[in-house]
Amino acid sequence: FGQRIVVLDSTVSTQQDAMRLAEEGAPEGTVVLAEEQTAGRGRLGRKWYSPRGKGVWLSIVLRPTQPLAFTPQLTLLTGVAVCRAIRRLTGVEAGIKWPNDLLIHGRKVSGILLESATEDQRVRYCIAGIGIDVNLNKEDYPEELSQVGTSLKIEAGREIDRTVLIASVLEEMEQLSKLYAEQGFQPIAMLWEALSVTMNRSVRAHTGQGITVEGTAVGLDPSGALVIETDQGERIQVISGDIQL
Ligand code: BTN
Repeated sequence: FGQRIVVLDSTVSTQQDAMRLAEEGAPEGTVVLAEEQTAGRGRLGRKWYSPRGKGVWLSIVLRPTQPLAFTPQLTLLTGVAVCRAIRRLTGVEAGIKWPNDLLIHGRKVSGILLESATEDQRVRYCIAGIGIDVNLNKEDYPEELSQVGTSLKIEAGREIDRTVLIASVLEEMEQLSKLYAEQGFQPIAMLWEALSVTMNRSVRAHTGQGITVEGTAVGLDPSGALVIETDQGERIQVISGDIQL
C-alpha cells in the first residue's frame, strides 16, 4: 500500500480520482490524497466536510478477489486499520461505531466510505475512502458539525503530523490485508469487536430499506453484517445503513 501515492492540492473528491485511476488499471494499494476536497462524499449520500490542510482525505484502490457479498468485510478491515493507527499515534482511545465511524468521547473523528465497481456480480475494484479530522480546531467546525464532530488535535491536545498518520494507516492496511488474505475474516472480526463501541450495546438500526430494528448488538456474522438480537430473542443481520447507540 502506498507504493504509488498521487498527491493533489485541491480536488472535488479523491473517490472520483481513485476511481479514474482504477479504471486505467492502477494496482491495489494505489493512493490518492488531497489537501482539500470541494465536494467530499460521505456515506448514504451525505457530504464530507474536508477543509484545506486540516485533515487526511484519501482514497485507496482495492482489488478484492471475492464476490460482492464480501465487500462489507473490507469496510470493517479499513475501520480497524484507521482505529489502530489513531490509537498508536495519538494514544487516544478511538472506538468503532458500526459499520465504521470512528468515535472519540462519543464524537465522530473519522469516517470510511467503501465504493465498489461491479460487472455481473464480479467486483472489478473497490475504492476505500478515508476521512480523518486531524488538526481542526473547535472554531473550524461549521454549526451543524460542532456538536457531533471532533478532531485528533482537540482530543490529544496537540498538533498531529498528518504524514506520519498517513504512513501508519497505510502500514496497518497492508498488515491487516495480509492477515485477511492468509487467515480470512475471522481474525479481522475479532479485532473489530475488540475496538467496537457498538458491541453489547442496545442499538436502533435503520437499514437502507427504511426498516428499523431495535435490540442488542451481539457481534458480526461471517459476512461482516452486524447481528442484532431483539427483545424477543430474534437475531437479525444488518448489512447496511446506520445505527443509533
Ligand atoms: C462517512 O463517514 O460518511 C464517510 C466519509 C468518507 C470521507 C472520505 S474523505 C476521502 C474520500 N473522498 C471522499 O469524497 N470521501 C472519502
